[in-house]
Amino acid sequence: MKFHSVKKLGIICLFSTVFALFANPFVAQEDAAAGKELFKANCASCHKIDKKSTGPQLKGAKQIWADAGEGELIYEWVRDNGALRSSGKSKRAAAVFAEFNQQAMTTFPKLSNEDIDNILYYADTYAPPVEEGPVATETEAGDTDKGGVKMWLLILGIVLLFVTFAALGVRKKLAYIAAAERGEEIGEEKSAMDKLGAWIYKNWLFALLIFVVVLFAGLADLMTRLATIGVYEDYQPSQVVAYDHSLHAGTMEIDCRYCHNSVEKSKHAGLPTTNVCMNCHKVVHESKKGTGAEEIAKLHAAAGFDKDLGDYVKDADGNVVEGKPIVWNKAHNLPDHVFFSHKQHVKVGGIDCMQCHGDVKTYTLGRVSTTAEINALVADNSDKGLIELTKPILTMGWCIECHDKKQIEVGPDASNPYYQEIHERLTLRPDVYKNIKEDGMVTVQELGGWECAKCHY
Ligand code: HEC
Ligand code: HEC
Ligand code: HEC
Ligand code: HEC
Ligand code: HEC
Ligand code: HEC
Repeated sequence: MKFHSVKKLGIICLFSTVFALFANPFVAQEDAAAGKELFKANCASCHKIDKKSTGPQLKGAKQIWADAGEGELIYEWVRDNGALRSSGKSKRAAAVFAEFNQQAMTTFPKLSNEDIDNILYYADTYAPPVEEGPVATETEAGDTDKGGVKMWLLILGIVLLFVTFAALGVRKKLAYIAAAERGEEIGEEKSAMDKLGAWIYKNWLFALLIFVVVLFAGLADLMTRLATIGVYEDYQPSQVVAYDHSLHAGTMEIDCRYCHNSVEKSKHAGLPTTNVCMNCHKVVHESKKGTGAEEIAKLHAAAGFDKDLGDYVKDADGNVVEGKPIVWNKAHNLPDHVFFSHKQHVKVGGIDCMQCHGDVKTYTLGRVSTTAEINALVADNSDKGLIELTKPILTMGWCIECHDKKQIEVGPDASNPYYQEIHERLTLRPDVYKNIKEDGMVTVQELGGWECAKCHY
């Protein structure tokens, strides 16, 4: 390799490493991660990424619109497809609507261009999982792989940088030797890069120090970024119908279990079907809120109810002609590799909804609460047995922390026969029983709540 090409390589390496360190190498990944989350919450109910579903596949959609010369209109489509269609300015809108039997897509007025770009970026860069796993799903995209590749590129850049500096040093020595052999005077170095190289060569210890500091600052930055990936506290997705918990569960005091009726019987709390709402909304057609009638009309449309007729619309055979069902966007979403059961926590563990979801009676739409909010509820709700935690909700640390702190009433007189039985079994295991008796506390951990396989498939 020629000396000056070594120098060029050096310049390139230096700039690319500095750039990589300061230009937030994870921006692109965050886009995909943010897009993934938005996609899961808003679009996954109707769209698959690489297959046709209720709607067309989203991978490549942006390209289709760009090819049709309507690249900018795709944002308008996602925000309000109906408005775009009726404006008549988009051919693609009309075509895809016809192709999918004129099924109307939900509107997303709150999504910004950036949000939509993130979703489409996630869709376009999505690669199906390669390993043969039994539960690999479409939404489990390879964005962590991408982070891994970037990390390795960064490390490679750093290694190259070291090699270059070493080469610069060697080059200088060789130049001296060559010059000495020719009996020449060694000319002064002139370019700024040469000077920098010489300076680094002379003050290598200091340069190394700067380099290490920059490296650690970069790494620290990276770690904090990584730590926030996958944390979705204080998240409230928009919904098609402006349902209000503070009215129904708050003012009217409808029990949570009336609507989330599988919460004590199954893994899922479940969301109510339109029929549950119609128990009341067959007769309640408006509310004190100005927009109430409009919102309830959407409910009627979904249920196939005609409020003027006062009955469901039926076909010739007497079957109810239902409209398009309401699609509720998920707020809480654990990854597929985690097992969580409401029954185990609500029924067996006797934990109040508030401990994990906050004061839902004050919310409008469902949302993911924050640890700080829930901690603030502990003092005023002493009857509910709430405990304070420190880790963000829905993270593994959160589950583990509670399993370590939440005491369980185990004993021959426990109110829950499940725990009487556990007590009986524990008395047959003197080793375990002795530990428990010593600190007098039984927490979920002691019953196996820290075993990986309890929470992971
Ligand atoms: C209620 C179901 C539903 C939801 C939710 C939904 N879509 Fe759609 N989407 C459709 C249908 C159906 C079509 C096909 C056009 C039509 O019939 O309106 C479509 C078409 C599209 C198209 C046009 C694709 C093409 O090939 O031209 C894009 C882009 C799109 N959707 C993006 C999104 C995004 C982004 C979200 C989430 C923010 C989303 N959709 C949520 C049902 C849905
Ligand atoms: C120990 C914590 C905990 C308690 C107690 C709890 N939940 Fe949940 N809840 C969760 C978690 C975690 C999820 C996310 C589950 C997932 O994504 O698989 C969730 C999800 C939900 C959902 C979304 C739908 C679903 O089933 O995934 C609803 C609705 C819900 N909870 C209602 C309730 C109600 C009502 C109560 C009280 C009767 C309650 N939860 C008690 C932790 C809890
Ligand atoms: C136990 C009866 C009952 C049930 C069940 C019920 N609602 Fe309501 N809902 C009402 C009443 C009563 C009002 C009007 C309150 C008022 O005077 O403002 C209302 C108002 C509303 C409004 C108007 C907006 C607002 O905040 O005022 C919406 C939207 C709504 N309900 C949606 C739903 C949905 C969705 C469901 C099912 C998940 C449901 N309701 C279940 C009784 C009920
Ligand atoms: C009248 C019916 C009704 C009642 C009563 C009700 N909810 Fe809901 N809940 C819903 C509907 C509908 C949704 C989905 C729309 C939304 O996110 O607001 C929902 C959503 C939620 C969610 C978010 C689910 C997700 O997407 O992750 C939680 C958590 C929740 N409810 C908890 C509760 C708790 C706790 C109570 C009791 C204090 C309660 N709900 C009472 C109807 C109800
Ligand atoms: C607020 C405290 C709390 C939080 C938060 C919590 N748990 Fe639990 N968990 C409990 C209690 C109490 C039990 C009941 C112990 C038992 O099974 O007797 C339990 C039991 C379990 C069990 C059954 C353990 C066994 O021995 O059979 C599993 C699995 C589990 N939790 C998973 C999770 C997961 C996953 C999360 C996080 C998404 C979570 N838990 C969050 C308190 C909590
Ligand atoms: C009490 C329940 C629980 C137990 C026990 C548990 N995990 Fe987890 N784990 C979770 C939850 C919930 C997540 C998802 C966290 C998220 O999405 O941020 C998770 C995520 C993970 C991840 C993915 C990385 C991440 O942070 O998202 C790995 C790897 C993992 N767990 C390994 C383990 C191992 C190994 C053990 C045993 C030493 C273990 N887990 C025990 C609940 C648990």
